[in-house]
Amino acid sequence: MTGGEAEMDRARRLVASAERIVVLTGAGVSAESGVPTFRGEDGLWQSHRPEELATPQAFRRDPALVWSWYAWRRERVAECRPNEGHRALARLALLRDGVTLVTQNVDGLHTVAAEEEAEKLGVGPEPAIPWELHGSVFRLRCSSCEYREEHRVPEEPEPVEPLHCPECRGLLRPDVVWFGEMLPATALDGAFQAAREADLALAVGTSAMVHPAASVPLVTADAGGTVLEVNPDATPLSRVASLALRGPAGELLPELLSSEVTPQG
Ligand code: OAD
Repeated sequence: MTGGEAEMDRARRLVASAERIVVLTGAGVSAESGVPTFRGEDGLWQSHRPEELATPQAFRRDPALVWSWYAWRRERVAECRPNEGHRALARLALLRDGVTLVTQNVDGLHTVAAEEEAEKLGVGPEPAIPWELHGSVFRLRCSSCEYREEHRVPEEPEPVEPLHCPECRGLLRPDVVWFGEMLPATALDGAFQAAREADLALAVGTSAMVHPAASVPLVTADAGGTVLEVNPDATPLSRVASLALRGPAGELLPELLSSEVTPQG
């Protein structure tokens, strides 16, 4: 057995022996689907300044600029499909009890994978729908009131100016979490409860730089659980991880989870 095979074997045993698993994903899980990450060499934050695009102040200063940047991202993501990493995680959550998916991604690809894999298995998708800690580019919310709506990519080109709220005429904005904003309370509570109860936290494709999301695996570790990282590169989480699988999630997750997610018999 090579070093890599021995590590994969250890990782598979960790998954098999865990009763409750929390999975935290970041932009890296969608990289092989063609969605840009934030901090890599070609990451979005190399060519764009977060404070000019992803803060409430930026939206107040120049709503059309922020709106059109999210319209561009929404169009780009709408062309992407879940990869084998998303699918393996969806099947894990659909086929095993005690698995909670938590994502920082706003691309909706875990949900597409959940729906498509659930349909193949003839079950409901709910167990594989993730807590979305940073929202979704496919939802809008009013910047003045509580109004929210689904927002798919329209057939016609997107307007360059933000739409107005049908209830209060305030400006609609993407339902994503910007720097300096609170995370959605229900998702945050669901994620941290799962983290406290898990005996294994699987951290996939995240640089683990943005808290509180990056604390999810740390909470599992503090409660006595084990952390397993899947990422080509080391991150601040690596020092608490019992084991790291170094490589792309779209290749490693199907291998890691194959015995869990292949229907038996
Ligand atoms: P980052 O771009 O910071 O990190 C992506 C991670 O994915 C890096 O650690 C890469 O090494 C890893 N990676 C790249 N390709 C991979 C692959 N094929 N398989 C597995 N891993 C791979 O993205 P996040 O950690 O998600 O927040 O960033 C966290 C938050 O920062 C985002 O949600 C966003 C951003 O600012 C908000 O917009 C609020």
